[in-house]
Amino acid sequence: MEGLGIEINNCKKCELWKTRNKPLVGDGSVDANILVIGESPGYNEDIRGRAFIGEAGKILDQLLGLINLKRDDIYITNILKCHPPRNHNPSRDEINSCIKYLDRQINILKPKIILTLGKYASKEIFNKFDLEFSKISDIHSKVFEAELDFDKIKIIPLYHPAVACYHNNMFDILKKDFIKLGNIIGQVQK
Ligand code: URA
Ligand code: SF4
Repeated sequence: MEGLGIEINNCKKCELWKTRNKPLVGDGSVDANILVIGESPGYNEDIRGRAFIGEAGKILDQLLGLINLKRDDIYITNILKCHPPRNHNPSRDEINSCIKYLDRQINILKPKIILTLGKYASKEIFNKFDLEFSKISDIHSKVFEAELDFDKIKIIPLYHPAVACYHNNMFDILKKDFIKLGNIIGQVQK
């Protein structure tokens, strides 16, 4: 992961390198069984190159806390490694340029469970593993399986924690989904 980090820090494969401050490679433990995939670094993440340290990060930490998961029990990264100005939605070109880094991270980490946060990350990962993506509102907290070179893994799409910054009822849905997730993780790690 270290070598990959150096490559990402020097990457100029899409236009985002021009406006980024620091790329965000990923945070947490490379020994974790759970890989969490968000969308792209936000304003705060861009300043420090760290994952989920802004408002969405506070919500994520509360949700992880509900099921006794610490940041060191997971590894977090994003579909895009550089901050898109004004948080624009990831473009096809940006994703195509960046996704190979995520592929390599998955191969290094060999997770047992992948959690995808929000529509963009979920759609991208579903496409990658030939799963049919419908709407995040239909598939959130459901368990999907994919066969990778190294193992069969579970993929669980969730709403992006940022949605709970503006909508309290979404926080309740996220809490329910995380409690369900806690039970699934307990079974997988037994
Ligand atoms: N939102 C994301 O999708 N990723 C981050 O790292 C921070 C906010
Ligand atoms: Fe490179 Fe990805 Fe950053 Fe684009 S977003 S410059 S592909 S690391």
